[in-house]
Amino acid sequence: MFHNFRLTVAAMSVLAASMVFTACNEKESKPEPKAEPAEVVAPATKSVVVYFSQNGATKKLAEIFQKAKNADAVELKLVTAYPSTYDSTIAVVKAQRDSKQWPALENAKVELDKYDTVYLGYPIMFGTFTPPIYTFLDSNDLSGKVVVPFCTYGSGGRKASAEELKTLEPNANVTLAYGISNKRITAENGAEVAASEVEAFFGNLETGKTEEMLMGGFSEQRPLNAEDSAVFTAATKDYAYLGLKPLSVSTQVVAGMNYLFVCEMKAFGGPAVQTNVKIFKPLPDRGEPELIVVEK
Ligand SMILES: Cc1cc2nc3c(=O)[nH]c(=O)nc-3n(C[C@H](O)[C@H](O)[C@H](O)COP(=O)(O)O)c2cc1C
Repeated sequence: MFHNFRLTVAAMSVLAASMVFTACNEKESKPEPKAEPAEVVAPATKSVVVYFSQNGATKKLAEIFQKAKNADAVELKLVTAYPSTYDSTIAVVKAQRDSKQWPALENAKVELDKYDTVYLGYPIMFGTFTPPIYTFLDSNDLSGKVVVPFCTYGSGGRKASAEELKTLEPNANVTLAYGISNKRITAENGAEVAASEVEAFFGNLETGKTEEMLMGGFSEQRPLNAEDSAVFTAATKDYAYLGLKPLSVSTQVVAGMNYLFVCEMKAFGGPAVQTNVKIFKPLPDRGEPELIVVEK
């Protein structure tokens, strides 16, 4: 799946290297240039960040992708903006999802011919990408493009949204997705945190990492001890609405510790389902444990 992406990067590097090589050789072997002005050819822009953001968190992340890849950017704009309150937006989005009437965009059709890679950014709504992304997908042809999903969320939806993209766009090369919680990216140091994770994410893409490989290095699941429980309680204190009850845990040593808690979840008092909760505990004196994502 990542083969094409690596190939593209490799091919571009070879091309760039050969252009430099040719330029150097010409410089050495040719006499002084003639009087005509040299033709300046701007390098073709190869990638574009396309995103929707209701409240700015995804926009902040999109700017990090844009800067990291020196990409063009298109912010998708609703013809009729979502309401300003959370509860009203829930109602509008639910109606759109129930009817599959995706909202009109001012700029649904994006000129994608000149790009081989589309970084596609969205907030998670109802467990997957926000409705304006359906409008974008319906209005554009992503066949043959590398599509790199990225998202912001309350508690999770990164993997599920990427899976749905793969299903809807079987002719695109949909890669691993990057995601970050709203709480983390809107924190004071959120831009730095996200930028360094995005850099690591690009490293994972380029080395062809899979979801399974990213989970490597975790211990076996085991019962919680008092310290695990304290970490869990500290990291989930703002997520009472998820009704999480940890059942077992495994850990992975990084610069700090990653925890993977298998939990029972009764979100908004709904039926119990089993889910995984990833938590990061920084090294001592480097901050509090934080919830990274809730997902299967
Ligand atoms: C209508 C609506 C539905 C949402 N659904 C989910 C959800 O299912 N899971 C989740 O983790 N976050 C959910 N969220 C939270 C958003 O994904 C999160 O706040 C995101 O960072 C907003 O991005 P933005 O600031 O770019 O609009 C929802 C938010 C709204 C408004």
